[in-house]
Amino acid sequence: MTFDLSALTLDQKASLLSGADFWSTKSLPEAGIPSIVLTDGPHGVRRQAGEADHLGINDSLPSTCFPLAVAVGSSWDPHLAAKVGAAVGQEARAFGVSVVLGPGVNIKRSPLCGRNFEYYSEDPYLSGVLGAAHVSALQETGAGASVKHFAANNQEHERMRISADVDERTLREIYFPAFERVVRESKPATVMCAYNKINGVYASHNRWLLTDVLRTEWGFEGAVVSDWGAVSDRVEGVAAGMDLEMPGSGGATDQQIVDAVRSGSLDEELVDASVRRVVALTQLAGDATGDLDIDGHHALARQVAADSIVLLKNNDTTLPIQTDTRVAVIGAFATAPRYQGGGSSQINPTRVDAALDAIRDQSWADGITVEYATGFTVDDSGDSTALLAEAVTVATRAEVAVVFVGLGDRDESEGFDRETLALPPAQVDLIRAVAETTAKTVVVLSNGGVVSLEGWHDQVDAILEGWLLGQATGSAVTDVLFGQVNPSGHLAESIPLRLEDNPTWANFPGEQGHVRYGEGVFVGYRYYTSADVPVRYPFGHGLSYTAFSTDRIEARVTGDAEVEVDVTVTNTGKRGGKHVVQLYVAPAPSPVRRPARELRAFAKVYLRAGETRTVTLTLDRRAFAYWDIELGQWVVAPGDHIVQIGADSATIIDEATVTLAGDTVVRELTLASTVGEWFSHTEVGPLLMQGMAAGMTADQAQQAADNPDQLKMVESMPMQQFLSFVQGAIPEESLEQMMQLSRSAAGLDRERQSSIAE
Ligand code: BGC
Repeated sequence: MTFDLSALTLDQKASLLSGADFWSTKSLPEAGIPSIVLTDGPHGVRRQAGEADHLGINDSLPSTCFPLAVAVGSSWDPHLAAKVGAAVGQEARAFGVSVVLGPGVNIKRSPLCGRNFEYYSEDPYLSGVLGAAHVSALQETGAGASVKHFAANNQEHERMRISADVDERTLREIYFPAFERVVRESKPATVMCAYNKINGVYASHNRWLLTDVLRTEWGFEGAVVSDWGAVSDRVEGVAAGMDLEMPGSGGATDQQIVDAVRSGSLDEELVDASVRRVVALTQLAGDATGDLDIDGHHALARQVAADSIVLLKNNDTTLPIQTDTRVAVIGAFATAPRYQGGGSSQINPTRVDAALDAIRDQSWADGITVEYATGFTVDDSGDSTALLAEAVTVATRAEVAVVFVGLGDRDESEGFDRETLALPPAQVDLIRAVAETTAKTVVVLSNGGVVSLEGWHDQVDAILEGWLLGQATGSAVTDVLFGQVNPSGHLAESIPLRLEDNPTWANFPGEQGHVRYGEGVFVGYRYYTSADVPVRYPFGHGLSYTAFSTDRIEARVTGDAEVEVDVTVTNTGKRGGKHVVQLYVAPAPSPVRRPARELRAFAKVYLRAGETRTVTLTLDRRAFAYWDIELGQWVVAPGDHIVQIGADSATIIDEATVTLAGDTVVRELTLASTVGEWFSHTEVGPLLMQGMAAGMTADQAQQAADNPDQLKMVESMPMQQFLSFVQGAIPEESLEQMMQLSRSAAGLDRERQSSIAE
């Protein structure tokens, strides 16, 4: 499309930088600029034909509700994430939607975040890999993605005004990497900025975030779009690189932009840059193809859902349920499934599979008898004692009871956070009562955020964590219960024993306008494994109906801090199944405190019964690096890094050590540097030592050698203060020379450094 920016007036240009209405951009037919539609959401297309809203209140056209990110996260399968992305892209095209608002790659900082169902994981690497796969595949259909919510939007409480107070290393290592991976690898058409402030500055007018980091460092070339209603200062937003305000402001903020340019407080070139990016975005315009593969996409939703279910516990092979079994199906969610979360991502599904129907459908073939009892109501209405008694009666007649429990829409949603991890008490009572009655009890969970398993875990025989599985939930759960699908999901977030064990407990959701990310990089399993805090189930946990062994791990350094790892795995059981090879790195001692281990690579592989396969995983520099706030760069500590294969984040099966040359960091010395820093400095330390020794009498030197503790006492003292105690011990001129020497040697080996981020 040819487009002549100079032919547009300032008013026309400003008008392009906000929406025409709730879901579409403004057109300028005279300049050949069309309008496009942007709409939710991550796991399906919420195309509203009538009244619009951003909280999922009004109707939308029927579309496929795929498993939510919380489920896809547990699949640990980028190929499945890609299939979902492609299908969502196709449906977007069918409806004439140009940009789909998703996926969300925010990190699950606290298990209480009401919107955790829209996010993949507590781990940035897993989130980034899955998010990138989704976006690439979605965009191959011709639609654009909007990766969201950038950045540090990790709670719903006061999300529109809270300041996430978080240090830069934590942003770089935990909250940015998933966005960075998606931007670098998948080049999303748009990035959606978050509602919240970061360290006091709204994301929507944070130039460091939207321009310095996103564009200059990561090379983002698309448009930044505001979250719906996130703009707090439109003029500052344009200056920061926030291109498109959504929804439209009725022209009010366009005028502010015009006025600011006219008064000289906003550079017109910044307006032009945003206009170019918004106009480029409108190239995604396309007519509705109407081509909706309803059955095909339902089947895909079922396949992805089944591969996302996590088998948490399976004592005495309770599952899969064998033929000719008397089964009691209990719980309101078996007939009215909870398969998606409330808010902007809420889909009007093309159909919904309830588990009871699916179990009944398939039971005839296997001679299985099924009896059902409601057990509880999701809104706590009705006579709970009678419901419980009825469920127990039904359970008495069964050999296996399958209890469907979980959270309701009123327990978790976009817009608010939870206050507890507990399941509703009536459901806990039900599980316990049924478990006392039947020979075998299986619990199937439907929940967007982690729930506590305490108080009933030990009484039951098997647990399936189903999360929110999308519209095919009932048939997918049935596939796993009866063994048509061998479960292969693994937890993408830790299940703690107690809420108080979670590292954010004291700092969530914040107070007086601020939430302090006091746990730093120690989010989720990074904390539990480092502090040795026991959890109910660790990140990465997941069982199968078969068994796998890891027979060999071999690691070799193939380049500058690049490592290849071969892992040989065998399916030692009697049926085929998918195995996730999880590779963690336990870093060499570094000048900053680091987690015991971090997930740095993984692969999901299918193995036939008895099959052995060697999987090769590659680790780049970033897998070993930490963000050095003094240098503002990624740094690899020299020394022994341990690559570990984990059954999960807490259970290391095998490991190998790689010795890396790493980066030699030479820091600049000033009088504010400590005595310890001066003495341990690679260039200056030896000179200082010599100089000090030369200026001492033999007695003084002997005394210093006899009392090493004295040096320890002054190690943390700034040189300035130290000098005032030992006046004249180091001539001023020598100090100057040494500081000059440290200045000229300061920094990293640039050539090597530049390869880190590529
Ligand atoms: C949500 C976004 C969503 C937008 C439009 C906002 O409330 O935070 O994720 O895309 O509404 O519905």
